[in-house]
Amino acid sequence: MNVVSFSRWQPSETVIEVGAGTGNFLSLFKGGSLLLGIDAVPGMLAQARTHYPDLLAAGGDGRCLPLPSDSFDLVVCAQMLHHVHKPLEILKEMKRVVRPSGRLLVIDQVAPDKFEEAIAMNELDLLRDPSHASSRPASAFRVLFNLAGLSIADERRWEGSQRLSQWMWRGEFPEERIRRVREFIAERGGATGMDWRALGDDYIYTRRRIMLLATKD
Ligand SMILES: C[S@@+](CC[C@H](N)C(=O)[O-])C[C@H]1O[C@@H](n2cnc3c(N)ncnc32)[C@H](O)[C@@H]1O
Repeated sequence: MNVVSFSRWQPSETVIEVGAGTGNFLSLFKGGSLLLGIDAVPGMLAQARTHYPDLLAAGGDGRCLPLPSDSFDLVVCAQMLHHVHKPLEILKEMKRVVRPSGRLLVIDQVAPDKFEEAIAMNELDLLRDPSHASSRPASAFRVLFNLAGLSIADERRWEGSQRLSQWMWRGEFPEERIRRVREFIAERGGATGMDWRALGDDYIYTRRRIMLLATKD
């Protein structure tokens, strides 16, 4: 099941994405009546406008959305919450702007349930990207949704393989940081629960994501 089907979205429904970045994810809902991407970084929004002229892109903070309450059919947030230290603030805002009969969709990377592995995975995430806040296990997402007053209607896991060279591509990441990440993987990759294994000069790992669909309580 792809993410658009998972969201039960109909083209007549309005969609807002919080932390829309360059618009790649929101563009999956093509043909929609109103697709609005909100992001805190103007450079991201500029790229979204260039690549996807059909999307509306506006500046804003997910903790305090510049939108009226009960106004959108589907409120989504993809690959964004692991950049946020206080995700409950975002979830509460998403809940505020969704219509009473609407839905919330969250997609994010998911950490292993085992505490020690989740800690090691987060150490590696932070080494790769200093803006990383926290990769959370599925149980943490469920607790956060409950605290935000959201009922989970559906939950799916997805996993696939990805190479280190795709996770940290040369040109985007400094060589020195790639070197330190490679050292971490060689020494402690087995402790992260990410199934790191060598593949020629590269490494490959299992990338895991969670999708949650929720309604207001
Ligand atoms: C990893 S990108 C994901 C982009 C997009 N959702 C996707 O899946 O392609 C995370 C985005 O969240 C944005 N972001 C982080 N914190 C935010 C906040 N408090 N309010 C709005 N946007 C935020 C960042 O600027 C970035 O563009």
